[in-house]
Amino acid sequence: MARARRPFFCGNWKLNGSIAESLALATEVRNGVASLRDVDVAVAPSFTALHAVAKRLEDGPVTVAAQDCFWEDKGAFTGEVSAPQLLDAGCKQVILGHSERRQLLGELDAAVNLKARAALRAGLAPIICVGETLAERDAGETLGRIQAQLDGALADMTDAELARIVIAYEPVWAIGTGRNATPAQAEEVHRFIRTRVAARSAAQAGQLRILYGGSVKPDNIRALMAEENVDGGLVGGASLSADSFVRLVKEGSSV
Ligand code: PGA
Repeated sequence: MARARRPFFCGNWKLNGSIAESLALATEVRNGVASLRDVDVAVAPSFTALHAVAKRLEDGPVTVAAQDCFWEDKGAFTGEVSAPQLLDAGCKQVILGHSERRQLLGELDAAVNLKARAALRAGLAPIICVGETLAERDAGETLGRIQAQLDGALADMTDAELARIVIAYEPVWAIGTGRNATPAQAEEVHRFIRTRVAARSAAQAGQLRILYGGSVKPDNIRALMAEENVDGGLVGGASLSADSFVRLVKEGSSV
């Protein structure tokens, strides 16, 4: 059966890599996936390596994502990087609302919304992360938490804007822990997200790509991708080695 949506895999390199290391990894990933069709692949290096990596990858097929952006385009905001600057550096996407930013840096849904709208204004595709903590899951609050994060992040977006976003469901308890959600757990939340978006626009919901993230590895991606509403992966640890990331993309895009 043909997939309803084109699979998308994004490597989130987090706070890792010199410029030279990032270039080497990006080059290996590009070469490793060059022969693949019917899949989109992105890598998200640190800010310092974005421009160099984007230049290296400019002939495709791998695109470059940033890991955050600010909501204003320019001005007196020491330390921040704007969406137009990321576009200028060669980025096509930006990861927003990652749970590490929510937990360690106090990022709120309202900020994620402002950042997502700034990204869309600049011409970047936001990859918006949502996910519950273990305490929330154990208390039966998973879907309520996802709903609040989703509604907050997508507030005031037009249908045309909704068409350009990607959602990543990343249960906080699965990130970097080696404990991934079961395919059934992932599917339950992915289906919920699609239904929630469908309440606003059925057409946009049908084409929305929903990635799963949290301890995705080459040997567990197939079972996740077999679920109807899992359209790809946001990959942390397993994207830091070209060998494992390329294997993961090949496994995941051949389901
Ligand atoms: P992980 O990270 O694959 O190392 O669990 C995923 C993420 O945080 O995006």
